[in-house]
Amino acid sequence: MSKNALFSGFYQNLLDHQIDEWLETMPALLNQWQKQSRHGDFANWQKTIKNLPFANPSLLDLKHSVTIGNPDDLSRGEQIRLEKLLPNLMPWRKGPYQLFNINLDTEWRSDWKWDRLLPHISPLQGKKVLDVGCGNGYHMWRMLGEEADFVVGADPTELFVAQFQVMQHFIRQNNIHLIPLGVETLPESNAFDTVFSMGVLYHRKSPIDFLQQLKAQLKPGGELVLETIVIPGDEHQVLVPGERYAKMRNVWFIPSSKALMHWLERCGFKNIKLVDETATSLQEQRKTDWMQNESLADFLDPTDNSKTIEGYPAPIRAVLIANK
Ligand SMILES: C[S@@+](CC[C@H](N)C(=O)[O-])C[C@H]1O[C@@H](n2cnc3c(N)ncnc32)[C@H](O)[C@@H]1O
Repeated sequence: MSKNALFSGFYQNLLDHQIDEWLETMPALLNQWQKQSRHGDFANWQKTIKNLPFANPSLLDLKHSVTIGNPDDLSRGEQIRLEKLLPNLMPWRKGPYQLFNINLDTEWRSDWKWDRLLPHISPLQGKKVLDVGCGNGYHMWRMLGEEADFVVGADPTELFVAQFQVMQHFIRQNNIHLIPLGVETLPESNAFDTVFSMGVLYHRKSPIDFLQQLKAQLKPGGELVLETIVIPGDEHQVLVPGERYAKMRNVWFIPSSKALMHWLERCGFKNIKLVDETATSLQEQRKTDWMQNESLADFLDPTDNSKTIEGYPAPIRAVLIANK
């Protein structure tokens, strides 16, 4: 797939869904992205995508899982080719994906996060949805499975863009797009019914600006679904870790759920609800054949799993819902 094909149909979709502010500015932003220097492996990833077998999946389930095709949809040779190509895009972090005969078992059981939040959000049927920091798009496919009308993800990590392309190669839906841009570069649209942002807030140096940026993408009354790491404590508790948290370098602010609710209130959100708090388990985030680097077990204190290796509270993830 050429770089231009990445965005084919996107501008027409923006027009059809009256996302006017983006329509004015997005072509220039994406043109600029195409001129930027790429990750050293980007060309190889594109070659991998070009070599994927062509198939018409006889099965597509996006509602209960992301399951694409039956084993019989590919010849034996095509199956072997696919098995050889997918490791070129490792590490596979978010999933799992069932792809023909392959169980692409990712580092994260991202489906568990989806199951935790789904009962609490407004129905997505017929909605315009944005997923900020969407990773490889696993949850975007699940949004489509809930019959969203138009799904856009934004994530600047090029490997994840390529992993999304693999799924789109087989699924071929024209109302879903991953754009390779950071939230801070997105023009205000005031257009989406629901904005998700999961696992991103703690990576932002300026979390209040980040919440304002998410709000600027919502139409009035629209719903924010925010998921992030929290610490135990009252509305005054916020952890600003040292150089690393759970071995991650780029972690800036980890508030308590109550502090985060207060931030949302200060940003002008309404109907703020904390709908879930779950400690991340060693079953939800772990090494697999498809992600062979260190994972949660290596990030926690081996003698006390309630602490990170640096001695901070181990990750608890909260889901908050609020309206603009
Ligand atoms: C922990 S992952 C979360 C992925 C997915 N949302 C999930 O919940 O499984 C964080 C994602 O945020 C993305 N990210 C980092 N900085 C970002 C930014 N400025 N704007 C949008 N996404 C960003 C990263 O590339 C990464 O894919």
